[in-house]
Amino acid sequence: MLKEVTKSIIYVGADDHEIDLFEGQYIVPNGMAYNSYVILDDKTAVMDTIDRRKTEEWLANIDEALNGGQPEYLIIQHMEPDHSASIKAFVEKYPSATVVGNKKTFNMIGQFFPGMKMDKTLEVSNGDNLDLGNHKLTFVFAPMVHWPEVMTTYDATDEVLFSADGFGKFGALDADED
Ligand SMILES: [Fe+2]
Repeated sequence: MLKEVTKSIIYVGADDHEIDLFEGQYIVPNGMAYNSYVILDDKTAVMDTIDRRKTEEWLANIDEALNGGQPEYLIIQHMEPDHSASIKAFVEKYPSATVVGNKKTFNMIGQFFPGMKMDKTLEVSNGDNLDLGNHKLTFVFAPMVHWPEVMTTYDATDEVLFSADGFGKFGALDADED
């Protein structure tokens, strides 16, 4: 399910209606959304991956959003599995993409995916910028919101904050919820 957030920011996440307990403990009667976005630009970025239950749907959504293009960056904001479980599938499909994270992110990637080869990585610090062409991104760390590696990303061009787990809620996007 693709959705335009802006003209060049496309939602490529997935709703999961087969799950009734998120993370084995939270009741989600309408299911759960796993969120990810593509920023289309001279250098295209994918914001986060999604849960392994929907990896194939997510990769197909990215294909559709890219329309034959190649992603330049995969930006990892959070390593909890609903955000990170599809990193390996992405790296295997797009080995020329650069994986972007901070020092703690890369430590966790090593623990979550032992032996996974990443050809290109970019380690960023709090406040660092990444220029995609039109979109200008700034990384703002948000440790313990809600794991220590969490960072958010602000796109000054479209004035969009990719907030990782901040300001989140449970539920699926296509369900009518409170
Ligand atoms: Fe989380």
